[in-house]
Amino acid sequence: MVRVGVVGGGQLARMMIPASINLGIDLRVFAESKGSSAHLAESTVGDSANMAELLAFAGTVDVVTFDHEHVPLENLRELEKQGTRVFPPPEALALTHDKSLMRAELAHIGIPQPLWTVIAHKNDEELARVGGFPCVAKLPIGGYDGKGVREIHSWDEVQDWLEAGPVLLEELVNFKRELSQLSARRPSGDFLTWPLVETRQEGGVCSVVISPAAGITERQTAEAHDIAQRIATQFSVVGVLAVEMFEDFDGRVLVNELAMRPHNSGHVLTEQSVTSQFEQHLRAVIDMPLGSTALREPVGVMANIFGGAPVEKWFGVSGLFPEVKFHSYQKGYRPGRKAGHLVVTGESVTDSVLLAEQARDALKGEEPWDKHHG
Ligand SMILES: Nc1ncnc2c1ncn2[C@@H]1O[C@H](COP(=O)(O)OP(=O)(O)OP(=O)(O)O)[C@@H](O)[C@H]1O
Ligand SMILES: [Mg+2]
Repeated sequence: MVRVGVVGGGQLARMMIPASINLGIDLRVFAESKGSSAHLAESTVGDSANMAELLAFAGTVDVVTFDHEHVPLENLRELEKQGTRVFPPPEALALTHDKSLMRAELAHIGIPQPLWTVIAHKNDEELARVGGFPCVAKLPIGGYDGKGVREIHSWDEVQDWLEAGPVLLEELVNFKRELSQLSARRPSGDFLTWPLVETRQEGGVCSVVISPAAGITERQTAEAHDIAQRIATQFSVVGVLAVEMFEDFDGRVLVNELAMRPHNSGHVLTEQSVTSQFEQHLRAVIDMPLGSTALREPVGVMANIFGGAPVEKWFGVSGLFPEVKFHSYQKGYRPGRKAGHLVVTGESVTDSVLLAEQARDALKGEEPWDKHHG
């Protein structure tokens, strides 16, 4: 049996579990703590910054892949040196560690992106390169869920970050909507995309995904496919690659950022596509032929659940929403945390969005269950 090791015990590792069962893969998780979201898979608790612990884990599997990218690259390079297959390879993963490096590397191969620059202190000349204020400031390393992203109108608003290190500045893109291109590549080079999806964010965090994005032209389909394929090939990405993009009012696409693992924008595919992103990721990292990315349903809508996703509450309201698919990440309550998601598939975007949002709202409302269990 092929053994795949996943570094990180979050919801992405969790959702690889059903796919691994079906494929007959032995999935093992290197989790940050006991009782992780992915605890149903055989788990080792450890710290990926600790080389000895990471090596010991790698020794129990045939290939190492990731739930998140917060793993020291030097440790991954060391794993490779010691003979472990690491997918995506550390050199590719580097682009998802550092947004400044990603911008430079993508510029190098001519990928369309927002105007950008990196500054070490307040610098009006550099600011002019991104169109002046307002612009977007980003922490190059360590941001997620919009936490390292600010729209700024003056230098004061970014002073604290500048004191800590260089900051990436980007033009504030006046986009029509945000899109995401999900794809997968296996080591032998085979590469497949799913149709482009639309992502809707609230407060910089993905809230709803609509699949496929409405009104995409053939040219946009070809362009997004080409962008993802060039990135995947150029950097030898293996596994799922998500390319987050902005669509401007002229219909052009600009790359926002990359993820080299299953991604929030691809959750909808579990219900909608012949092959889920989790199955595809596992197939890719063990170099198995990729599955079909055709859609079984014309419309798919995913809505994230924030804070908590109490299964008990879903039991209470699910009778009203028999068509809605609920996914719990079995995480404890924390305000704003992605705790689960809902998926609706169907024929109409309007109806599916409405149903997904109604179900999500019903989860928020106070249920009799709350009164009993405080
Ligand atoms: N240059 C920009 N112009 C306009 N809006 C932007 C720009 N960069 C980022 N944003 C907005 O902020 C959101 C979060 O940015 P980004 O994806 O870079 O951050 P993140 O914290 O890595 O996000 P996540 O982990 O949710 O993908 C984007 O989805 C978009 O809505
Ligand atoms: Mg993002």
